[in-house]
Amino acid sequence: MTKDDIITLPNQHLRERSKKVGFITPEIAQLIDDMKVATLDWEASREHEVGVALAAVQVDKLLRIVVIRNDFDNKQDKTFTVFINPTITKYEGALEDDYEGCLSVPDIYGKVPRYSKVRVKAQDERGHEFRISAEGFLARVLQHEIDHTNGIVFVDHIKDNKNAFYHLKDDGHLEELDYEKSIRTNSILW
Ligand code: NI
Repeated sequence: MTKDDIITLPNQHLRERSKKVGFITPEIAQLIDDMKVATLDWEASREHEVGVALAAVQVDKLLRIVVIRNDFDNKQDKTFTVFINPTITKYEGALEDDYEGCLSVPDIYGKVPRYSKVRVKAQDERGHEFRISAEGFLARVLQHEIDHTNGIVFVDHIKDNKNAFYHLKDDGHLEELDYEKSIRTNSILW
C-alpha cells in the first residue's frame, strides 16, 4: 500500500463502525504491514507533519485495528505498536484541548477536548491481550484512533465550536479558519 490507499473525507466509510477482528490470519498480518507502510509513505510526502497513527478504516478496511508510532518525536524511528480490537476501559483526569490532525482530513487541524489519561485494553499481533495506561499525547492519540474504529472523526467532536478549526499553511504554521466561511457548511467535512 501507499499513501494513495488512505481514504479521506467525504468518504462515508470513515463514519462507519469497524468490525471486530477474530483470528489473526495472514491477511490480517499483511493488512497491518500495509497500514504501517501507507503511514510512512504519507509522512514522506508531508514536510511539516508526522504520521503518528492509522486505523484500518483509513485504508478502507472496516476492521478494528490501529497502529501507533512508538516515538512521535523522532521520524527516524519507524516502529509501531499494534492494537487489535482496542477499547478504552477507563477515562481519567480532565478534558484538555489540544491540536489534532488526521491523515483522512488533509490540511485541517482542530483543537479537540480529550481526557488526559486513559486505560486501554487490546490484543497484540499474536492475539494476546494487553492493557496500557496512557497520558498526554499518547492518551489523545488512542482516543482519536479508537474513535476511528467507531466511525467518529475528530472534527465531529468540535462541529459546533467556532474557534476550534485551523488550517496548516505551507510554512508549517497553523492559522485559525473562519468558521462561517470555511467550516460550517463545508461539504467535505460534513
Ligand atoms: Ni485520524
